Amino acid sequence: MSINHKTSIGALRDEIDAIDKQILELINQRISIAIEIGKAKKQTGTQVVDNARELALIKRLLALNKGLLKNNALRRIFHDIITASREAQRAEAMPSLGPDSQALFCVFGDPVAHSLSPVMHNRAFAYTGYNGLYMAFKVSDISQAIAGMRVLGIKGASITMPHKINVMGQIDEIDAMARDIGAVNTVVNQNGVLKGYNTDCHGASAALLKKTEIANRNVAILGAGGAARAIGFGIIAEGGKVTIFNRSKDKGEALAGVLNASFCPLAEIKTLDCDILINTTSVGMSPHVQATPISKKLLAPEMVVMDIVYNPIQTQLLKDAKMLGCTIVQGVDMFVYQGASQFKLWTGKNAPVEIMKKAVLGAINEDKPKCG
Ligand code: ATR
Repeated sequence: MSINHKTSIGALRDEIDAIDKQILELINQRISIAIEIGKAKKQTGTQVVDNARELALIKRLLALNKGLLKNNALRRIFHDIITASREAQRAEAMPSLGPDSQALFCVFGDPVAHSLSPVMHNRAFAYTGYNGLYMAFKVSDISQAIAGMRVLGIKGASITMPHKINVMGQIDEIDAMARDIGAVNTVVNQNGVLKGYNTDCHGASAALLKKTEIANRNVAILGAGGAARAIGFGIIAEGGKVTIFNRSKDKGEALAGVLNASFCPLAEIKTLDCDILINTTSVGMSPHVQATPISKKLLAPEMVVMDIVYNPIQTQLLKDAKMLGCTIVQGVDMFVYQGASQFKLWTGKNAPVEIMKKAVLGAINEDKPKCG
């Protein structure tokens, strides 16, 4: 009797082993198809994660499931299979630093973990076939990072908080506009000579120019920090007429003086006589998403309203403006256009702006808590 049991258990285990082998083969087939999709996504610049498709897939399998597998177990198993496929696909869709790769690019900053620049530039490199790789480095000492850039032959760097000013003392040449602005956010390594630029100002102007003329327009800038300064110089270079509105009087007056612009304390605005309004303050940034730097009563439908805050993508200010019928320009656009300027400086090629924007929006959505 016991011998029979053993035999039957053995036979059943053999059956299970054979099924496992088939499952393994099928999963590998699935992954190889996912890799093919990854290659296609690399060509088209489509994001790897497609949450809507994955949710639909699990839903379809739940409806198909008429066997003994419990729904929760089905969800777990297919979540793992999807994750494995996604990892393989991501590896295929991302560029790697192979032996023939020449160009390494970085962002130096602190904090830098949530920077969207790597996903944006790597997608642009992949899309255009440029043999580059972009990585984020958390850097506390910018002088050492720049020395490392020289030693390693790193082709270009984005410079972000808190190093945009200090980096100027570490590089060899500074573009005239960046010198006027007093901040560098981009370094180009031209055969060992490091040259600094500021693409924040171009980013804001380019994003606005997609929607409006700037020349001879009245432009109200809210805020008087580093971003306001870079954007202010960019607007003036395009022929716009700037008024600075700021919470603190001393900082606002100082920037208005540098820009040869007018100044009004933020709290004293009665009416807003402008064609273009740009928020450069952090008001409205997540988690304070309901905050807005200016009452919606001051907005008018003819205005073009831009917010440099891109988390959330649609800030309260932009929601108010849209509701009133204003033309709006999102912070994501400025971010992408400043990145597009960097791409051009580094590679000499025109940037695939729409592909870069898709990559950035995909990364922002990927970071959000998912349902299901
Ligand atoms: P950045 O370099 O990103 O521009 P910053 O130099 O810290 O940052 O400047 C932030 C700007 O946003 C400042 O003009 C600041 O106003 P103050 O000069 O009065 O500090 C403005 N800002 C920040 N929080 C604000 C708030 N809650 N209301 C109004 N303005 C605010």
